[in-house]
Amino acid sequence: MNFLSTGMPVCARLDTTRRTLVLASFADRLPCVVYCGSRLGDDEDLAALSRAAVRPIANSTLDRAVELSICPEEGRGFQGHPGLRAFDAAGRPLMTQFRLSSLERQGDALVVEAVDAQCGLTYRARFATHPDTEVIEVEADLTADREAVRVDWLSTPVVPAPASATDFIEFAGRWTQEFGLRRVPFTRGAHLRESRRGRMGHDHFPAFVVPDAGCTDTLGEAIALHFGFSGVHRMVAEETAEGLRQLQAGVAEPAMLEPGETLSSECGFLAFSDEGLNGLMHALHDHVRRHVVRFPDPARPRPVHYNCWEAVYFDHDLDTLKELADRAAAIGAERFVLDDGWFGSAGQGRDDDTTSLGDWYVDPRKYPDGLGPLIDHVETLGMRFGLWVEPEMVSPDSALARAHPDWIIQPEGRVQLPRRSQQVLDLTNADVADYLFERLDALLSQYSIDYLKWDMNRDLTLAVDREGNGLLRRQGKAVHALIDRVRAAHPGVEIESCASGGARIDYEILKRTHRVWLSDSNDAHERARMQHEAMLFLPPEIVGSHVGPRRCHTSGRVLAMPFRAGVAMAAHMGFEMDLRELEPDEEATLKRYTRFYKENRTWMHAGRQHRLEPACAERLAHMSVAADRAHFLAFVATLATIRDESAPPIRLSGLDPDAHYRVTLWNRDEINASSHRRFAMPIADPDGLVLSGRALMKSGVTLPMGFPDTMWIVQGTRTEGR
Ligand code: GLA
Repeated sequence: MNFLSTGMPVCARLDTTRRTLVLASFADRLPCVVYCGSRLGDDEDLAALSRAAVRPIANSTLDRAVELSICPEEGRGFQGHPGLRAFDAAGRPLMTQFRLSSLERQGDALVVEAVDAQCGLTYRARFATHPDTEVIEVEADLTADREAVRVDWLSTPVVPAPASATDFIEFAGRWTQEFGLRRVPFTRGAHLRESRRGRMGHDHFPAFVVPDAGCTDTLGEAIALHFGFSGVHRMVAEETAEGLRQLQAGVAEPAMLEPGETLSSECGFLAFSDEGLNGLMHALHDHVRRHVVRFPDPARPRPVHYNCWEAVYFDHDLDTLKELADRAAAIGAERFVLDDGWFGSAGQGRDDDTTSLGDWYVDPRKYPDGLGPLIDHVETLGMRFGLWVEPEMVSPDSALARAHPDWIIQPEGRVQLPRRSQQVLDLTNADVADYLFERLDALLSQYSIDYLKWDMNRDLTLAVDREGNGLLRRQGKAVHALIDRVRAAHPGVEIESCASGGARIDYEILKRTHRVWLSDSNDAHERARMQHEAMLFLPPEIVGSHVGPRRCHTSGRVLAMPFRAGVAMAAHMGFEMDLRELEPDEEATLKRYTRFYKENRTWMHAGRQHRLEPACAERLAHMSVAADRAHFLAFVATLATIRDESAPPIRLSGLDPDAHYRVTLWNRDEINASSHRRFAMPIADPDGLVLSGRALMKSGVTLPMGFPDTMWIVQGTRTEGR
């Protein structure tokens, strides 16, 4: 190839059905993403496109405009957050100037290879598509060709963020407050978020969304990058002095590479939309459904759960659990999940959260005949059985810790602060992994269990092995390997990823799990918001949502049953409460909502979600639209007293504009005379109203006023005429 001397860029494009990404390399330097957006015509002149984007050179700057390559290099004059930070064995910085050796299509991927012979490094990047989705998977790797290298940072291939965006979206939060969507002004400087906790943490779901100026839920352009690695991540959104804007993601832990070894950045997931944030969400949901989550039996509808945690906590009594199972089945539950508290060792059981983690044997004090009698009872009621485990953890007060103190992550001479009185096992130790596999395999083989709630309830603080080597990345991989091993041995078992609620959610863990426990908050008021924000990345069928106790255990809030049930049925529904507290009217309501969930879940879980703009700050709304657009349900939550004297119409989304829909208020019997004066409101009529999809989307429909913490469920069905 003689492009090295021509001065013309070497370009390559990657297309999905609706998107195009263009890479261009000038004068053999690492390529830049010069375009990422709506699909370009097949005849687009990529060289002209790339050259048109070359920046002018200001006075008193370097003599060539600094580029934002897929791995911005300090050695090429880039002064922002570099894509790679590496050092030789003597600690000298490796100031790379990679030279492109190939940029080519390999199947559905664009693959870049570049070498810096002087530094002894080879860099590769991969932008991979799938024929049936719009998400591009991006990953870089680095090989130490000659000598040992320390890599402090290796980013996923860098993508530019739109220059006209005024801000970007990230997710912050804490326990019981996951997925707090925040808008951060996109201004000069670097915004860096990371987790070195051994899990994602409640405070940062690893993703940035950059809505271009004017982007709303339904209109405009946006780009999203999600980093798919549990346990350790860093994400950077930066605007440099030149006005270059970049998004980086990677593993926030240094690594040593021996000669010949290769390090991966791990995988990022890149989505682009020209249909607002909802367009991003659709691309991401399609990708999760087709290439991330793999259900053992995709045809099986998401069963209604009953989880006993907030009913009994550690107080396991067989008769009580059987009674709860009876009640749960009568209301409509299809899977009974036995939570924490069932295990222990001889003479010691899990009666509170201070002991027994690691002793994964059924506690004979609580279950003298094993789990069989409970499981038989559950199955006789027509439900399947699930079990809570927390394999990575150990209580110092356990038979396991006493027998194998060296299995605990605890560097010499250091104290790992306990959290919830527990410590973490070193899963990179094969003996530990074998023990855990043996225990899980034995339980899954002996008992009829079709579901594990796989929990992870603490952060790592001193994340090094006994030799002092960093463990975060290796522990994360070892967790994946253990889950994979369990799944290979028991392919019919579904797994939920839980970490004190939603502290471990990413697409890599979701490649081997089937549900996330979004939050330990069963408070429907909080949950409505969390589900709304998390929905951008997570389709509803994988987001666990439980109808909690009347008085919420994590907030003290008292919420009415219709609201609790409405919020849960919009995701993967379950109940988690002492069902003996239910008054007859609450029980009847829960039954009705559960039946309604079952009637609609199949199409909802295969359909499109649309976040709506309710034009009213006190409301949060979204809708599920069937794939064929023949049905929809809109969930309109009112979370506070509506400030104005009336609420504006809600404009729907995602409908067939030319079709007509009969629209009714499914829960019109909840209209409360104290919040809403009765008048002839067509939607409250049993026959509802019939309008075109276009009218429903452009003009919308008004709903009754409602008290705070209530939800309207608007049901629509395509009709043949008015
Ligand atoms: C974590 C989970 C809860 C529950 C408890 C059990 O906090 O998030 O749902 O399973 O552990 O100890």
